[in-house]
Amino acid sequence: MATDRFPTLTLCTHPLVQHKLTLLRDVATPTREFRLLVDELALLVAYEATRDLPTATREVETPLEHLTGSRILGDQVVLVPILRAGLGMVDGIAQLIPTARVGHIGLYRNEETLEPVEYYAKLPAVDAATASYMILDPMLATGGSAAAAVSLLKARGARRVRLLCLVSAPEGVRHLAAAHPDVPVFTCALDRELNEHGYILPGLGDAGDRLFGTK
Ligand code: PRP
Ligand code: URA
Repeated sequence: MATDRFPTLTLCTHPLVQHKLTLLRDVATPTREFRLLVDELALLVAYEATRDLPTATREVETPLEHLTGSRILGDQVVLVPILRAGLGMVDGIAQLIPTARVGHIGLYRNEETLEPVEYYAKLPAVDAATASYMILDPMLATGGSAAAAVSLLKARGARRVRLLCLVSAPEGVRHLAAAHPDVPVFTCALDRELNEHGYILPGLGDAGDRLFGTK
């Protein structure tokens, strides 16, 4: 579902997604289950986000006759998790697209300014102009991290970039759309607002800490 007020946004409203997202938000959900849910939700969001993935033809013989089918160009898909929390989304999507390559971008938010700080970037050697980049990060809060990740990819020649997240805030969707109007965002939820510390309300808390059990 695309929303009128947020033209770059696609909301995944499927009942399975909403069921799993509700479990993910629950403060009582332990780390082990949290990881599993992030994995499953990432796969479901990726299903939505890959509807227009480029394909090529593939010739096969069925037991009865010849068929011209299709195949995705998986090695031209680049998953780009934003460290740390984006790592939790990689395995679920790799189940769908096993030949996808994976790049990593390390960013953390300065807790006072909420500005992203880049500390790592390693991307696969592909033809950046034709590859499909999928940035993975469960949380789109102020949008600073996502916008910085897109800028980094574009500076390296990327043209086809999209963001897959689980929970987003209106502020973040607007920020990213203003900075990069060509980048579609796929999310399971558009929450109400940010609090004074830049946390999404109602949200799910700190995604990295819940994934890795660091608090
Ligand atoms: C979280 C989250 C995003 C970012 C979102 O990471 O995983 O990357 O915050 O916030 P923004 O939209 O306001 O930029 P965090 O900075 O906490 O780092 P971590 O994943 O290493 O915990
Ligand atoms: N990062 C998180 O992990 N959670 C939020 O609510 C906002 C940013």
